[in-house]
Amino acid sequence: MSLPPKLESVISQIEKDFEIKDDFLIKATDFFLEQMDVGLATPEQTREKMPMIPTYVVKRPTGTEKGLYLAADLGGTNFRVCSIQLNGDHTFELQQDKYRIPDEVMKAPKSSDLFGYLAKKVETFLLDHHPETCTAKNAAPLKLGFTFSFPVNQTALGHGTLIRWTKGFDIPDAVDRDVVNLFQANLTILEVNVQVVALTNDTVSALVARAYTNDPKKTNANTIIGCIFGTGTNGAYFETLDKIPKLKNAPEGAEGMVINTEWGSFDNSLKILPSTEYDDSVDAETPNPGYHLFEKRISGRFLGEILRVALIDLFKKGLIFQELFKERGGSLPHRIDQPWLLDAEVLSYIELDDSTDLNMSGLILQNVLRLPTTRDERYVIQRITRAISARAAKLSAVPLAAVAHRVKDQYKDDDRDFEIACDGSLIEFYPNFRKRVTEYIEYINPLKGTNKKVILKVEKSSSSLGSVVVTALH
Ligand code: BGC
Repeated sequence: MSLPPKLESVISQIEKDFEIKDDFLIKATDFFLEQMDVGLATPEQTREKMPMIPTYVVKRPTGTEKGLYLAADLGGTNFRVCSIQLNGDHTFELQQDKYRIPDEVMKAPKSSDLFGYLAKKVETFLLDHHPETCTAKNAAPLKLGFTFSFPVNQTALGHGTLIRWTKGFDIPDAVDRDVVNLFQANLTILEVNVQVVALTNDTVSALVARAYTNDPKKTNANTIIGCIFGTGTNGAYFETLDKIPKLKNAPEGAEGMVINTEWGSFDNSLKILPSTEYDDSVDAETPNPGYHLFEKRISGRFLGEILRVALIDLFKKGLIFQELFKERGGSLPHRIDQPWLLDAEVLSYIELDDSTDLNMSGLILQNVLRLPTTRDERYVIQRITRAISARAAKLSAVPLAAVAHRVKDQYKDDDRDFEIACDGSLIEFYPNFRKRVTEYIEYINPLKGTNKKVILKVEKSSSSLGSVVVTALH
């Protein structure tokens, strides 16, 4: 399919701007390793540093943990409440309710607008699924693991203060405050008989959840990283204490601790990360400009927005949507004109489309965005979509390879493969994303000198399960 020459040259330039050469992968992995050490050495949180947060999770599950616990999981667009029965044999039973967080709660004036909402949902869940705990007099409180997937300065297993919001949340009143205290206070106001025991990030949960369900005797693999490639991105892994110089109050007897890297903030100074004018525009629209710049090149919340700002730029340059603009009397459909309304799910359909004249993409754009397109416009949209997702997949391999390389020695006494527990819509559903990430990790070859492989394992529902296993463990 050929485009008019001017349009072709602009699109080729955009593709070049998004392209990452293979040798960048090696350089970026080395830089990531350096940045991990910097983050582990100094306690102050600055924009330039990867947070590398000690989580106070010091035990690794064996799969034999038992009991009934609650989990509350605030991650991105949804809030989940679950009760989980751990059976002690790597298996579990789960009951779950899910609620979409209303926009006015994501951006609210007071922290109690959010935490009061969460507490109310826990109450509703208990009334529906475990009414006995609400009525029994003097019953011991049910223990709850709280998965809270934002950067938190963790001060103990069950305490931590919010460093900043990400992924579109904006409730300034909650920043610098202990999110467990806020949640517990609102549960207490409603007289919900629940005690919040553990605070975990979703990546910590993914790691611990898979370590519980994984039986290394059967899989011949150790679970070494928990990570999310969804609305946001991040990863957690087990670090030995000698490599965490900034940690001064490790629990007695601990040999290591799970670290929440918050790799979304890798290279906020843009020393090596690729950057385009579209990345800058997207960053400027977020509530946290200058932060989480790695995440803003990779994760689901941002991919659609990068495409949208690119299309608006081409429109302003007079290269696309000109007829449409005239026909509509001087406007574009609002879903393409408004930030954040172009979902990565739409990109995932366009990515794979091989229908004649990309008619399938045409239908999707029409249905989801109310956007009529010409054949050339669809072709442009597909090429930019593929450039954006290819860059995201390539960048995603970097932290995974770096962490695998870093912990190689911890596992030198066995011959087990390295399993990476991952969760999130991008890694689970985006066409070929997981396959490409795996190929780039193979290219970087972080386990050189061993016969081990790195395997990406999608672990669904890990967020809730992990916080429950942490609660049971400690
Ligand atoms: C948050 C992390 C979280 C990740 C994945 C990021 O925006 O800062 O805490 O783990 O999203 O949900």
